Amino acid sequence: MTTFLIRGARIVDGDPTDLIIRDGVIAETGPNLTGGPGAEVIDADGLVALPGLVDLHTHLREPGREDAETVESGSRAAALGGYTAVCAMANTSPVADTAGVVEQVWRLGRTAGLVDVQPIGAVTVGLGGEQLAELGAMADSAAQVRIFSDDGHCVADPRLMRRALEYVRAFDGVIAQHAEEPRLTDGAQMHEGITSARLGLPGWPAVAEEAIIARDVLLAEHVGARLHVCHVSTAGSVEILRWAKARGIAVTAEVTPHHLLLTDTRADGYDPVFKVNPPLRTGADVDALQAALVDGVIDVVATDHAPHAVQDKECEWPYARPGMLGLETALSVVWLAVGHRLGWDGVAERLSRAPARIAGLTEHGHDPAPGRAATFTLVDPAARWTVDPAGLASRSRNTPYAGLDLPVRVVATFLRGEPTVVDGKAVR
Ligand code: DOR
Repeated sequence: MTTFLIRGARIVDGDPTDLIIRDGVIAETGPNLTGGPGAEVIDADGLVALPGLVDLHTHLREPGREDAETVESGSRAAALGGYTAVCAMANTSPVADTAGVVEQVWRLGRTAGLVDVQPIGAVTVGLGGEQLAELGAMADSAAQVRIFSDDGHCVADPRLMRRALEYVRAFDGVIAQHAEEPRLTDGAQMHEGITSARLGLPGWPAVAEEAIIARDVLLAEHVGARLHVCHVSTAGSVEILRWAKARGIAVTAEVTPHHLLLTDTRADGYDPVFKVNPPLRTGADVDALQAALVDGVIDVVATDHAPHAVQDKECEWPYARPGMLGLETALSVVWLAVGHRLGWDGVAERLSRAPARIAGLTEHGHDPAPGRAATFTLVDPAARWTVDPAGLASRSRNTPYAGLDLPVRVVATFLRGEPTVVDGKAVR
């Protein structure tokens, strides 16, 4: 294994230091280090070293839609975005609702070897919302699943949601809920508001999300189990989460980069690249989500990276699948939206430490320090780049940021001492 000497990086927001990476771990940090013969030197003057980012919400599409993404292509996109671990959502084909499928995804992740791929198991059989999936078998499998989610669908039946929470409590699992009361969003195409009325598109009201979150925090309290709320998108949801946390309920929540930056007025041109579920909301919602991420009511940023093949996305708005790419742009978009308020320590907390804790990924989410696994990313805070969909590593092209000039560039990513990205390029 190559020894690396990294010169002059700031660890999160510390002073510049050298780091020696040997045998997969950080051997030493401090000024004026020498790596010994054969050590590869990386000049990190002006760069920031962050704990490898951890994504709680990634759609990798394999098995089933390898034309849109594979475990390998999604892993490469993740590494380029500074990630060292991603949690792969269960809405594949077949659905990841058995030990066999989650083990398959886990093994594909190991084979690709670019990030740790931690499968999420479905809560219900086939995401059908009627019968609990084999949660225990998935937890006991080689993939050791701890997060369960029907994402893309809501576990709408409160009795089933209660049973799922009771079940996973036994092994400290967590139910990650896609909060959407389906009877309030039948046929919905975008946020219900002034823009949807003007465009004549059926609306997805904020209350459809808020009603489920309110119900589920009460269920989580009643059961004494952990609830995680996926892609929070409304100001009202933030207020319910604030109340639940103040009450001591074991709830955590995520926000996506796109909900931190974009509003529903993007639908004006009927470009389906801006169609996503939950939908882009209003400026007041964006303000509330940003504030909640800064003050900690929202614990993490998760990408909801949702690759879609051209024919599923570039069609009339009502027929287009919802979802946006996120892995390669997340850090830059978060920095653009709230970087000055979060600082690098806040970014490390919301994009690495907190998601690693929620997922129970004990090898991840640690600031680079002697004795720790060398699992980190080096970013250039002064760099700017323009998003070119054709240049992305994802197999899909549905980024809402095409042509946008973004701050911050990932320069290198290391997973247990092995570089996955060097000079801003994937090693394989
Ligand atoms: O926009 C979305 N796309 N939201 C979801 O919940 C699912 C996801 C997907 O799988 O494409």
